Amino acid sequence: MPPRIFLSRSLPDTIMARLADTFELVQAAQDIQLSGPEILALAADCDGMITMLSDPIDRAVLAGCPKLKVVANYAVGTNNIDLDYARSAGITVTNTPDVLTEATADQAFALMLAVARRTVEGDKLVRSGRWTGWAPTQLLGSEILARRLGIIGMGRIGQAVARRAQGFGMDIVYHNRNQLDPTLETTLSARYASLDELLASSDFISLHCPLTDATRELLDKAAFDRIKHGAYLINTARGEVVDQDAMLAALSDGRLTGAGLDVYTGEPALHPRLLELENVVLAPHTGSATYDTRNRMGEVVLDNVAAVLAGRTPPNPVG
Ligand code: DGY
Repeated sequence: MPPRIFLSRSLPDTIMARLADTFELVQAAQDIQLSGPEILALAADCDGMITMLSDPIDRAVLAGCPKLKVVANYAVGTNNIDLDYARSAGITVTNTPDVLTEATADQAFALMLAVARRTVEGDKLVRSGRWTGWAPTQLLGSEILARRLGIIGMGRIGQAVARRAQGFGMDIVYHNRNQLDPTLETTLSARYASLDELLASSDFISLHCPLTDATRELLDKAAFDRIKHGAYLINTARGEVVDQDAMLAALSDGRLTGAGLDVYTGEPALHPRLLELENVVLAPHTGSATYDTRNRMGEVVLDNVAAVLAGRTPPNPVG
């Protein structure tokens, strides 16, 4: 009998074919976001789970699946899973690092350029039929050359953003739990800064830290009070790294010129104020959404599940 694996959402076709060849797949009748109790109802007698970053894999779900050996998250972030409980119950959790680094860094850069050059406002103007032609003061934005980019979280994705910023001639500072090796700092042309210095001096701030107890609302009201007046904020990490009300206040009173957001507090619900503000570019959490990356993420998930069920150490254990 092949192992029973609960899969919360359908993956790209080639990955679905490989999963179906290897496992007895358990899925909901409809490919929609499921609640914790709905996941539990389907997964209770499964040996493994393949889950999405939006699935609440809490203690109740994990405790209700006595045969569960592995939760393979189809994401690099694992803040949707109760890691402490999984560890205590002997359930291995895995993620998909590396393969989504470049796609997510591209998304951060796309948002940075889009908000700085007001790309979405321009698109709306052209489509509206109200565009009357070139004008000297129309939709003026900011250049990024020689502007300071402050990267918070200098892991794989933060470093990939720094490499892109080098090509655009930006002045790069970063803040991280640990300072990088000096050779790597030189390679990335990036200088370590305290969080205070980064906030007070950066023209663009890009978030690349995981959501943990230590980073929840890292950018709180006090942080927004310290941010350089007129800076831009880019968030492709997790919405909850930012105090959303404080960010909205800063976007409304000009402390932030704009924001490029891929992630939101409590997503997919959106604060109505976000929809009113012209100076934000909103993406639907599509940082890793390229054909290549989503296929590679599927392969990583497959390898991790297969390894755990075969009694081997998986390539990407978490926690
Ligand atoms: C992840 O995988 O955690 C990212 O949020 C994808 O964009």
